[in-house]
Amino acid sequence: MFRIIFPVLACLCLLFGAPDSGQAAPTIIRFSHVVGDDTPKGQAALKLKSIVEERMGDRFVVEVYPNSSLFDDDQIFEALLLDDAQMAAPSLSKFTVYTKSLQVFDLPFLFQDLTAVDRFQKSPEGQALLTSFTDRGLLGLGYLHNGMKQLSANRKLSVPQDATGLKFRIQPSEVLKAQFAAIGAEAVPKPFSQVFSLLSTGVLDGQENTWSNIYSQKFHTAQTHITESNHGLLDYMVVTSVNFWEGLSSEDQRDLRAAVEEAIAFANDLAGKIEQADRQKVVDAGTAEVVQLSRNERNQWVEAMRPVWQQFEDGIGRDLINKAYGANQ
Ligand code: SIN
Repeated sequence: MFRIIFPVLACLCLLFGAPDSGQAAPTIIRFSHVVGDDTPKGQAALKLKSIVEERMGDRFVVEVYPNSSLFDDDQIFEALLLDDAQMAAPSLSKFTVYTKSLQVFDLPFLFQDLTAVDRFQKSPEGQALLTSFTDRGLLGLGYLHNGMKQLSANRKLSVPQDATGLKFRIQPSEVLKAQFAAIGAEAVPKPFSQVFSLLSTGVLDGQENTWSNIYSQKFHTAQTHITESNHGLLDYMVVTSVNFWEGLSSEDQRDLRAAVEEAIAFANDLAGKIEQADRQKVVDAGTAEVVQLSRNERNQWVEAMRPVWQQFEDGIGRDLINKAYGANQ
């Protein structure tokens, strides 16, 4: 009997389709980023994927694309607007074309450490920045930490004059360009995925980045020195498109936002630990000398770079700069 009924049912399914379970297929969220899985951002994306799978797997599936495997940072905003990706966490320096206010995060020697950064990001002013470019079709869902930046080069950098005439890779940011101009160096904006090759072939002399990015991208094997300058911040904003977000029900928005916030809290808690561990791995590798600055040397970097604040004060707003600086207390 079964031998007769089963083929008949199979044919009916082929002709009329499988019986409708009444459930829509889960919405795919492509989370595209440019760093490795073992970095704070990589961990945040994977945590989000697992939270969503566990709690709302019938409604959403998060697909994580690390290491620029789907989009590079110079393509991601357009990809979000075209719905080719639904979430990303670009570095705050890469938002310049969408809002000048976010340039505050690029000002050299503004924040002492991640505690101060966190305090500012959680303030009403910091939170307001998340929705400051919805008119451009993008919506911030939260801030994600990486850490403070260090300067690396193919020569020892102890005082600003040591960097004169060198070519540094920067993220596409006018503030970062001005920061290197202030020390007589040339700044060349390039996508993250190209940095290792540009350094190892000697096309560029140096770059600035966090310990986790230096270690995970092996920049320490392509540079002779890394100055522990902590001169700037590299943090992220988890971002989606207004179109994608507004297409979700309010229940889905609530649950997804909670999942994103939990993933961010998880990764922010890890960021400091990853920073310390990766710093140590770079020191242990011994391929690049880690340069410590004396108080006097550090003051020279501060003095050389601080004038950049004034250059961008009109665009960012003096009150916002004061608020951010005040978070150091
Ligand atoms: C990132 O951490 O997402 C990349 C930072 C960079 O472009 O240097």
